[in-house]
Amino acid sequence: MTQFILALDQGTTSSRAIVFDHQGQIRHLAQKEFTQHFPRPGWVEHDPREIWSTQLGVVQEALAGAGLRAGDLAAIGITNQRETVIVWDRASGEPIYPAIVWQDRRTAAECEALRAAGHEDLIREKTGLLLDPYFSGTKLAWILDHVPGARVRAERGELACGTVDSWLLYHLTGGECHLTDVSNASRTLLLNIHTGEWDDELLALLRIPRALLPGVRPSSEVYGETAPGLLGARVKIAGMAGDQQAATFGQVCLRPGMAKNTYGTGCFMLMNTGPGAVRSPSRLLTTVAWDRGQGRTYALEGSVFVAGAVVQWLRDGLGLIRDAAEIEALATGVPDSGGVYLVPAFVGLGAPYWDPYARGTVVGLTRGTTRAHLARAALDSVAFQAADLLGAMVQDSGVTLSELRVDGGASRNNLLMQAQADLLGVTVTRPRVTETTALGAAFLAGLAVGYWQSEAELEALWQVDRSFEPALGADERERRVRQWRRAVERSRAWAQE
Ligand code: G3P
Repeated sequence: MTQFILALDQGTTSSRAIVFDHQGQIRHLAQKEFTQHFPRPGWVEHDPREIWSTQLGVVQEALAGAGLRAGDLAAIGITNQRETVIVWDRASGEPIYPAIVWQDRRTAAECEALRAAGHEDLIREKTGLLLDPYFSGTKLAWILDHVPGARVRAERGELACGTVDSWLLYHLTGGECHLTDVSNASRTLLLNIHTGEWDDELLALLRIPRALLPGVRPSSEVYGETAPGLLGARVKIAGMAGDQQAATFGQVCLRPGMAKNTYGTGCFMLMNTGPGAVRSPSRLLTTVAWDRGQGRTYALEGSVFVAGAVVQWLRDGLGLIRDAAEIEALATGVPDSGGVYLVPAFVGLGAPYWDPYARGTVVGLTRGTTRAHLARAALDSVAFQAADLLGAMVQDSGVTLSELRVDGGASRNNLLMQAQADLLGVTVTRPRVTETTALGAAFLAGLAVGYWQSEAELEALWQVDRSFEPALGADERERRVRQWRRAVERSRAWAQE
């Protein structure tokens, strides 16, 4: 009997379910957007019930669309927006507060206070992260401090918490499994990434009762089965990983030194560093990539805050284009940016600059500058920022990269991918299946149940759509990067008066 793997990809703006076949090809994809709540400036929340209902809805849709029944599935894999945290009542399964989303900045003051008290070194050493409201730990403490009675109930063991993987697993199994995988756990500020366990010192520092937390498991194993009656037949849930880690697995970056970059609103770049957690002098994040039950694989991670969003800005802020897809044609109209450099530091700059006060700037304008030059400079800015990240990774890891694997919406932009190859001086490779996040979750689940036998089998499934070779001489590349750095310098500390 032919069987399939179902991947649940619960993202920041939509829930998706994708049916994959044994060749790693997509049989059906169902997707549903859900509501974003912004109750105050800087706050971002989701309704956990809507996360669950949209996710279950697309599972049913994907099965129906592929003409399958639950019994045709060998396993389910889960991947998810990371860091977003939910607290729920163990008895009823009902959330006690909305999900606080990774983008939410409400705990900035807590993070500042912890830093001022001198705790950042300990946090960096144990978790590989920084003190930033991005991560789950301070958000979780906020819920316990602000929902009446929550802290006492948490200490009594009446409440459960988790990132979105845990929330989905809990509901898929009818409340039987309260678990998370180590890649998701590594984004909470509570996990010691060197032991793979919740850390008492960190729990005390962030005031989180241990009784609240899920068990930490590998990213590929059978955690449980779907509740009877949920899908018609019981299906094993056998893979879980945070979305960027899953994408790295889906790109089969399985050996140390392999890296992927996902081009979305921002960019997430991860480099596999193997069994060793590499500490980053450039203040990249050190994170757990996955654990297949044979020990943890680590990654260095860097993010660019504004990537695809610069194209949205050209469209919505400047009215330079009507549709994001127009940018490639417009930018192709000129051979280069004509000396124009655009630094899209709209919300400051991340690694390796870490300057929250940087602001966007355009330099090099002349009387001859056209819309096309600006469009080109905007695309180049995405490639320059990714090149900065990769440069930091190479420096920190000591690994020289030969190829960058790419995915995400803007990876379809050929001009951008060529610019990326030119500015990195390495081959940029786009796979045929660009749903690499979901594919990674499917791979992790499939390996756990023997649907796929080995990583070598997965490597053979991964197919190139197109490779972009660097076409710029080293001198010209260095000149452009130098100019970019000068432009970045002009954007720095602008908002700090
Ligand atoms: O760390 C946040 C990341 O996991 C969110 O990913 O694709 O849902 O925006 P995405």
